[in-house]
Amino acid sequence: MKFMEKIKEKARACQKTIVFPEGEEIRTIKAAEILVREKLLMPVLLGNENRVRARAKTLNVNLSGVRIEDPEQSEKTRRYAGTLLELRKAKGMTPEKADELARDPMYFGVLMVKLGEADGLVSGAVHTTGDMLRPALQIIKPRPDRKIVSSSFLMDCPDKNLGEDGLLVYADCVVVPNPSEEELALIAIASAETARTLCGFPEPRVAMLSFSTKGSAKHEMVSRIQRAVLIAKEKAPDLLLDGEMQFDAALVPEVAARKAGESQVAGRANVLIFPNLEAGNIGYKITQRIGGAECFAVLQGLNRPCNDLSRGCSVMDIVHTAAATAVQAQYSPSAE
Ligand SMILES: CC(C)(COP(=O)(O)OP(=O)(O)OC[C@H]1O[C@@H](n2cnc3c(N)ncnc32)[C@H](O)[C@@H]1OP(=O)(O)O)[C@@H](O)C(=O)NCCC(=O)NCCS
Repeated sequence: MKFMEKIKEKARACQKTIVFPEGEEIRTIKAAEILVREKLLMPVLLGNENRVRARAKTLNVNLSGVRIEDPEQSEKTRRYAGTLLELRKAKGMTPEKADELARDPMYFGVLMVKLGEADGLVSGAVHTTGDMLRPALQIIKPRPDRKIVSSSFLMDCPDKNLGEDGLLVYADCVVVPNPSEEELALIAIASAETARTLCGFPEPRVAMLSFSTKGSAKHEMVSRIQRAVLIAKEKAPDLLLDGEMQFDAALVPEVAARKAGESQVAGRANVLIFPNLEAGNIGYKITQRIGGAECFAVLQGLNRPCNDLSRGCSVMDIVHTAAATAVQAQYSPSAE
């Protein structure tokens, strides 16, 4: 992944602190060593220090430069429980529950990020997407200007004529099952920002996908995308965004010329917005498995970056996701 080298370069330049709630997990321990060795960021592993060190020894991993924090023992845990209680008492949080949750590495890590004591978080080698997302949504919250948290999949395709030198951004393939028209518009705008800031696209060109191109089919599902396009254009008038259009009209100049001649996006899109999570999730897996693309995902729209791994992730997937998280942290609102 050539673009990953650029992400690593950007990460190296800013030396962010990234917390890993699954700090006792073998792939995460191995990734922490690489992150320090490659000077990409400052990792914090959460977990029982003796267990982490014993595991590292067995794995022959050098943990110098890696911080270890134990939520069960840390002097921060009481303070974090207080913060959690304050933030969630209107939602029924009790002091007892806050004390218990603050000792949970997932919540401890999210609270570290919330309080600016880490710049971002990476988890999901063990936890499910939902288990990782819920504390982040409840505590770190969406950016006020973004309203909704979603994801972008960065797809590095073998055909370098596609998108930006073979790189495409797909959204949303992970988070929002059935976005409203306004949410779809917000996902498109957030994905364009991810394309610009993380992937370095000089000009994001956003296609809102459907089974119809520019009114070629009439159906309520098509009208929904047309309305989302209007909302997105109103919210981000300077963004190159168009739709509704089919996948091939978005990417293939000859098809675009026939079906969407006037469009500045069709045939040269580099950001593809799927109508819902079913389409997005299936779409990225087809691109990966049949199209041979390498891919990884980032969350977008949170006040501070937290990213999810797949449970089948490799050590290098963790390294790459952590580097991307560090880069996203450069563009996040400042610490509270
Ligand atoms: C994201 C997800 C975990 C939210 O779970 P949920 O059970 O709906 O969570 P809740 O409804 O309890 O919401 C928790 C909080 O997050 C907020 N929230 C939920 N989804 C949100 C989103 N996309 N953006 C912003 N906030 C969101 C809720 O408003 C709520 O806030 P509050 O407690 O302060 O009022 C859920 O939508 C989900 O499971 N998505 C699919 C994930 C998945 O399995 N993907 C598979 C592909 S890998």
